[in-house]
Amino acid sequence: MLNRKTTIPISRPVPFDFPDDIHRHWNRADREISAMANGASLTMPFLEPFLIKTIRDCAELVDSPLLKEEIKGFCLQEAHHFKAHRRFNDLLKKNGYPELEALEQDMKQAYIKLSQKPLQKRMAYTAGFEAMTMGITKWIIGDRVKLFAGADSRVASFMIWHMVEETEHKCVAFDAYKAVYGHSLSSYWHRMLGVFHGSLHVMLLSRQGYHIMLKKDGLWGNLKSRWRLWRRVCWFAFATGPYLIRAALPGHNPRREKDLQWVLDWMEGWETWDKDQAPLVDTHHPNIPVPFY
Ligand SMILES: [Fe+2]
Ligand SMILES: [Fe+2]
Repeated sequence: MLNRKTTIPISRPVPFDFPDDIHRHWNRADREISAMANGASLTMPFLEPFLIKTIRDCAELVDSPLLKEEIKGFCLQEAHHFKAHRRFNDLLKKNGYPELEALEQDMKQAYIKLSQKPLQKRMAYTAGFEAMTMGITKWIIGDRVKLFAGADSRVASFMIWHMVEETEHKCVAFDAYKAVYGHSLSSYWHRMLGVFHGSLHVMLLSRQGYHIMLKKDGLWGNLKSRWRLWRRVCWFAFATGPYLIRAALPGHNPRREKDLQWVLDWMEGWETWDKDQAPLVDTHHPNIPVPFY
């Protein structure tokens, strides 16, 4: 669902402040899940500015005023996301993982290098990564009870907030790519490669992050923990894989991906909410319901 009067994504405040007491194992019962999500968070302050820069470059070639407005909304949301993730990541470094700093420098360099690639390749990466976010939403929000039961509700709400907005702007990068590069076979080929480039690159960088964190926690060499991690990685792959496969097919259109009702209800709840920040989700509720009601 989009802003009812327009199709322009709207940017909402982060649903919580970032106090120092956020623990790096915000899901105490599941350190592997905490590490996987923390690893993904680590990439955001480098990935999302890259997405913004790329789609802004692309916007210069777009004619449609509506699509240009949608791109502006996309950029506002992504800028909001990466700033929030940077604050969260700073807490992770402060609260146990100072060694992530070196990996952040590597990530910075990786995106500087990627920024020098031709625009079509960067846009295909952007649209490709955005396709994966629909699968991540299915995982994070569809499987929220398994992921967040008993976890720190602030972190759960933060991750859910991000994925709600990813749902909202899921078509923007795809539309911008299509508007500029059209429907030719060559355009499809580049876009299809971008699905795997964008998603696998971010997964690889995230893995480097959780590797460092689990090593620091003394869990990387622990067979039981590695088995738990492997099962969670497979769980993630099964949730996101179908979205990537569909995105890589000719004729793909993200509009055909059905949004989760929970996400739609969250957006509707926000529209009638009169406070600055959204309420936190209740991670102790057996169903973790939409928090506005
Ligand atoms: Fe985002
Ligand atoms: Fe996005």
